[in-house]
Amino acid sequence: SNLTQEELKRIAGYKAVEFVESGMVIGLGTGSTAKYAVARISELLREGKLKDIIGIPTSTTTHEQAVSLGIPLSDLDSHPIVDLSIDGADEVDPALNLVKGRGGSLLREKMIEGASKKFVVIVDESKLVKYIGGSGLAVPVEVVPFCCDFTRGKLEELFKEAGCKAKLRMKKSGGDAAPAVTDNGNYVVDLYLERDIGDLEAASKEILRFPGVVEHGMFLGMATTLIVAGKFGVTVKDR
Ligand code: A5P
Repeated sequence: SNLTQEELKRIAGYKAVEFVESGMVIGLGTGSTAKYAVARISELLREGKLKDIIGIPTSTTTHEQAVSLGIPLSDLDSHPIVDLSIDGADEVDPALNLVKGRGGSLLREKMIEGASKKFVVIVDESKLVKYIGGSGLAVPVEVVPFCCDFTRGKLEELFKEAGCKAKLRMKKSGGDAAPAVTDNGNYVVDLYLERDIGDLEAASKEILRFPGVVEHGMFLGMATTLIVAGKFGVTVKDR
């Protein structure tokens, strides 16, 4: 078939919403794939096919989208247990470990998806990788602004055997070059890896040991279901 990547994202997003039931607290993901799931939830609410949904947005961007679509919203303080979260990913490895945060929303995503009984990940087939870092895209790390170059250097050093280059993420637009700022007022260091870093749990612990690090974009053992939309159809895989 001749489906575009955009159509594959929509197919994956809509498929995930089949897991949503009336009365659920739903973690609303961020990005160009998750936005289709959010739109679909509002459509089903309007049609009366879903009722009593409470959305927990994972970013200010998704918060704005959900408000504009009239989805009732709350947060983890009021709803510490989330029934189901739906979100995209930048990379998915064969064990359903993820890289997230290309859009910069990794911290709120990890808080909300980590509090979810089920976490459905929606991707088009271009996101599937053999190993984390394997797409050539970065593993993002959210860091405090204070002496961020010190933290950047520590992260690069940590993965030097994997040929790591650590770069402070800059704003995409605007005249003066300035660091990109997350929803939480932090910066992002992107780790570009030339080789497989191997033991991801060990890597996670080592990254989090630096006091300047807030959180990283590897989501290990969190996804419970993976939905992949590809040219030859949509597949659903449980972990
Ligand atoms: C946001 O920070 C990210 O974690 C996104 O969920 C991830 O980048 C996937 O986004 P796309 O669906 O737009 O590729």
